[in-house]
Amino acid sequence: MTIALIAHGGAGRWRPGSDEDAVEGLRRAVEAGRAILLAGGSSLDAVCATVVALEDDPIYNAGTGAVLNFDGFCELDASVMESDGARAGAVSGLQRVRNPVLVARKVMEETDHVMLTGDGAQRFARVMGFPDHDPVTPERRADWFDKRNRVDEVLGEKALRMRRFLREHPEYAGGTVGAAAVDSRGVLAAATSTGGVTLKMVGRVGDSPVPGAGNYASAHVAASATGTGEFVLRSLATRAISERVEAGAGLDVAVQAVLDRLGADYDADVGLIAVGRDGLTVARHRTRDMPHAFFRGESAVASRMRVGDR
Ligand code: GLY
Repeated sequence: MTIALIAHGGAGRWRPGSDEDAVEGLRRAVEAGRAILLAGGSSLDAVCATVVALEDDPIYNAGTGAVLNFDGFCELDASVMESDGARAGAVSGLQRVRNPVLVARKVMEETDHVMLTGDGAQRFARVMGFPDHDPVTPERRADWFDKRNRVDEVLGEKALRMRRFLREHPEYAGGTVGAAAVDSRGVLAAATSTGGVTLKMVGRVGDSPVPGAGNYASAHVAASATGTGEFVLRSLATRAISERVEAGAGLDVAVQAVLDRLGADYDADVGLIAVGRDGLTVARHRTRDMPHAFFRGESAVASRMRVGDR
């Protein structure tokens, strides 16, 4: 089988000056996953290593450097899924852990459940040996103070205020991270991790921890989504990609069709990455940017800020 891995650093608009760091961080993260796959390791190990590297890089909205909720603390969502046995694990609303994706993996491997949330997820993390870690960085804290002080201006008055705000300031929501891979045994896996959206209500859960929404792996496809999670949740976007491939569509056609549907139904600010069983990788986004990196077989890692860049 042809090994492959693709990863994203979030759909949105990156602040001027941070572009190169975002693309380089993706390249480094994919190199970590590539080393595992080249050594004959599993796609699950590879996507976890890739997402851990991104969670540890404070430029991305996941793990350390995640955005703060309305009350000023991080609630982290993450999930993993493996095609072999359709196994999945997830955490949502998890606080004070360095690598939520690894806790999600433990949920999959050590419990009878698919998702643990809030205090229960944190309690489980501590029992599994994950120490206390404050993911709030000074930059995110300053950003939160600024937005919180201008909350009326930022959120506006109408019901869809967050959506309108995010459209005007797409750099605000970007930064979710995800990876999808196929290993030499043909097993597919996906992992996704996020802090969600800035100023989200306490308790808000996005698409990233929900199998079939922000993260999915089947015998046909592994995929990860990014962008405003409410749209991805309502469309079950990553599962929809898999269903289209299962029905005979090519991977690029399937991903584009799901993205087009998200556009037609919601004008959604989202991005998608996917890998097929044959090692084909695809990235698509409706936002200006979506830093991503990928490799297939013996090839070197390619990384870019947006689809179409060289
Ligand atoms: N896509 C990440 C989130 O909306 O939480």
